[in-house]
Amino acid sequence: MKRLLVATHNFHKVKEIELFLSDIPIQIISLVDLDINLKVEETAESFKSNALKKAKEYQRLSGEITLAEDSGLEVFSLGGQPGVISARYGGEELNDSERVNFLLKEMENIDGWNRAARFVSVVVLINNNGELMNVSQGYLNGFISHQKIGSNGFGYDPIFWLPEKSTTTAKLSLIEKNKISHRGKALKAIKPTLKSLYRIV
Ligand code: IMP
Repeated sequence: MKRLLVATHNFHKVKEIELFLSDIPIQIISLVDLDINLKVEETAESFKSNALKKAKEYQRLSGEITLAEDSGLEVFSLGGQPGVISARYGGEELNDSERVNFLLKEMENIDGWNRAARFVSVVVLINNNGELMNVSQGYLNGFISHQKIGSNGFGYDPIFWLPEKSTTTAKLSLIEKNKISHRGKALKAIKPTLKSLYRIV
């Protein structure tokens, strides 16, 4: 079966991407499957540059058709923070739950509309000759809640409030989240390129 490397060490991202692409007859493999432990430094100043960096480096190491993704949370009243450092916001040593607590504390004096935020995802696809095939992005708008709600998902999901659903993304199933999420939108845009790369009609 044809293979696609989903170049992330984040188990939750692999699961979301695998489910989203499950209608395409390709085998999804991860960095763990290939025993690639190298962590590409995400030091660039944009999601796109970081995603390109990861895609190029992991494609070079693996020789596989490679899909990489960089994502994060932007809180408008914090000038777009945590942004590209979302995974490290508040300190590398924090776990997801502690990182969420850190953001809640940073925002304790911020109310109402000023709690507006968005998730951003940039997806990059590189073929097995190392050539860039496509770049796409997706957004999900919402608000930062005042407390954690729900236990699905990862990262900031427990505090990402969706007014139209009256709950957070941590209350959604994988299928529901993929339908509306930043990652789902970026993946949807890249699907035609993926299909043509594998000559799937
Ligand atoms: P990276 O793309 O591996 O640099 O990490 C992105 C970080 O952004 C994650 O570690 C999360 O903290 C956050 N993030 C990105 N997408 C989501 C999501 O769908 N839900 C919750 N947090 C997310």
